[in-house]
Amino acid sequence: MPDQAGRSRRAAGVAWSSDIEACTAYDAFDTPVRKAAVVASAFSGIQPTGGSPHLGNYLGAFRRWAELQQPDHFYCVVDLHAMTMPYEPGELRRRTIDTATWLYAVGLDPDVCTVFVQSHVREHTELAWILNCVATKGELERMVQYKEKSRGQESVTVGLFDYPVLQAADILLYKADEVPIGDDQRQHLELSRNIARRFNHRFGETFTVPKATFPPAGARIMDLQVVDAKMSKSAQSPQGTIDLADDEDTTTRKIMRAVTDSGSEVRAAPDKPGVTNLLDLLAAGTGAMVEELEQRYDGQGYGTFKREVAEVVNGVLRPVRARHAELTADPAAVEKLLRDGADRAREVAAGTMTTVRERAGLLV
Ligand code: TYM
Repeated sequence: MPDQAGRSRRAAGVAWSSDIEACTAYDAFDTPVRKAAVVASAFSGIQPTGGSPHLGNYLGAFRRWAELQQPDHFYCVVDLHAMTMPYEPGELRRRTIDTATWLYAVGLDPDVCTVFVQSHVREHTELAWILNCVATKGELERMVQYKEKSRGQESVTVGLFDYPVLQAADILLYKADEVPIGDDQRQHLELSRNIARRFNHRFGETFTVPKATFPPAGARIMDLQVVDAKMSKSAQSPQGTIDLADDEDTTTRKIMRAVTDSGSEVRAAPDKPGVTNLLDLLAAGTGAMVEELEQRYDGQGYGTFKREVAEVVNGVLRPVRARHAELTADPAAVEKLLRDGADRAREVAAGTMTTVRERAGLLV
């Protein structure tokens, strides 16, 4: 949601925002800050759950991963995380390949960065155990996503509870400086930072304390029907979620039917969550400021506005969808790329684990 701080950051030409440390500005490209950012290592991940990734995943995460990518960037399909809720094994395998296919389709280039599947690199689970002995039950109980996902469940797995520790292991294994994520992952990132600091304090400097980064627009895309819920793979109604796999007509229909508010003014405001969300979508899709868009659609009504949002979204997704269709024709090639990616990831992960084992007092 474009907040006041977000607006002024964008006005100042800021590229990606971090609420934790100084952000990186385009106009400071030649300063040490920007240079450091250019060489920064990164890790991020997506769960292979639901139908296909959705527009929120694309705008909140994928698009930036593709823009930021460089050799020490690691982008991961986190299949072990997807096991924390009920699932069907064959479906998990299919979703893992398809999610990876979307990552290549959005432009992640295996010759530039490393794309891999979490379970192919066993160090993730090994480090998660060690970090389990650093994280506390109290801090995991405070995780909002855990509370939401466990609410109303008859039986809650230990995996669901422990999920954020595995997430911390993912990031810390690669000594990632930056973790480009959407807004909903903010709390998990804060926990990863705390775990890293605690381990370093107890056993000596080992982990980089990672920094979360968020896009200036599109960090929290909301459901088109339930405007106070984020767009999500587990949404109740498929009408509220734009899947990357949707065709253009379906995308247009969903946007035209998006819940807006009474009145006809195209303006971002707390009492206009539906319109505010569409403005955020359009800002993310065009790079324009929300204020400019409000002026552009002044007096034009919701119909014209929604039609143009649909055109922009379809325009942005068109090359991604076309590339996905091409890559889907050869799943064996995608699997081969993932195996090569895992080999590269394992080299880094194994190096980190040698240090961690030694520091934590295990016989090496
Ligand atoms: P996941 O699979 O839910 O989402 C993947 C990425 O998409 C972002 N995202 C959104 N951004 C904007 N609007 C939305 N409606 C929206 N929905 C999702 C998420 O913020 C995320 O960046 N726990 C993570 C996966 C994970 C991970 C990690 C991420 C595991 N290990 C290590 C970063 C680093 C998750 O469930 O994301």
